[in-house]
Amino acid sequence: MYHVDQISLDYRPRERVARIVPELQTGVLMYEFDSAFVCGLLQKFKPRRILEVGVANGGTTAVMLQCMKDLGTPFSLRSVDILTKTPKNPSREIGYLGVMAAEALDVRDFQRRLGVILPQVIESLAAEEEGKFGFLILDTNHSLPGETLDFLVAFPFLSPNAVVCLHDIRQNQKTPPSPYKIGSNALFNSVVAEKYVNTDATRIPDYYPNTGAFQITKDTSKYINNVFGILTENWLRPLNESSLAAYNDVLRRRYAEESLWIYEKAVIMNYNSTRFVVPKKRFSNARKLIGRFARKIGLRK
Ligand SMILES: C[S@@+](CC[C@H](N)C(=O)[O-])C[C@H]1O[C@@H](n2cnc3c(N)ncnc32)[C@H](O)[C@@H]1O
Repeated sequence: MYHVDQISLDYRPRERVARIVPELQTGVLMYEFDSAFVCGLLQKFKPRRILEVGVANGGTTAVMLQCMKDLGTPFSLRSVDILTKTPKNPSREIGYLGVMAAEALDVRDFQRRLGVILPQVIESLAAEEEGKFGFLILDTNHSLPGETLDFLVAFPFLSPNAVVCLHDIRQNQKTPPSPYKIGSNALFNSVVAEKYVNTDATRIPDYYPNTGAFQITKDTSKYINNVFGILTENWLRPLNESSLAAYNDVLRRRYAEESLWIYEKAVIMNYNSTRFVVPKKRFSNARKLIGRFARKIGLRK
């Protein structure tokens, strides 16, 4: 089911934390609407254990810490990123704004795992405390297998009614379009769950939001192969051998034969086909195609 405009947007946590961590003004990689939606979700569902994948400066981490601190319910936050340093400023560690906010707010139970991908740490993170994660926020590379694969790795460690928040569900609809950035969109639309979206008044002319969320139900597991099926789409961000081995290792031990059958075919097909798409320069061919398309519909000269 779709729940439209059922999340009460709260802009205040971001404003509040920006007052105590002024660097946040430029460090959050989400628009204010999206941060307010994330805070609305946290306030509605009040998760105990939160997992964040895709951290960058830690701007959203800081907003979530402020929001949870204001809520006053006990919580822990674990933030995972493939990088250790922010690309724009290599003297800064990934998540530094989250660290600053945690110190200023005296939040004790916040930790980062940097330079790793989710399958390398999910089992140890899950084993740290009793109870599965009640809230997962995914904001990574937006190209397949991206968020879809990370969701599948996280799913066995989510509580039965956990909420999954996805940023960039309309990343493919940028102008000019980025048709290869379907990672979040594909997951959002293939998963069977209770879906939450709010109308975004800033997104003229369609008002479709860039952040959405879904709450897991019994049907999510029953129809999980819809999500595995998405992996048969083209992987324009192929995984290297060691990353693939890490994903294989978790999935192999956590899913049924039929799901693994789809997964195996998706991997083999993609490793066969991406040879042609990603030979030397990543995305070069995909970009050429997109450029041609954008010119055809008059978005580029
Ligand atoms: C768009 S930024 C995240 C922005 C952040 N959520 C915010 O709102 O400020 C994406 C981050 O995901 C990380 N990333 C990309 N692929 C990843 C992966 N497979 N696993 C973990 N992190 C990944 C990048 O290093 C980058 O820091």
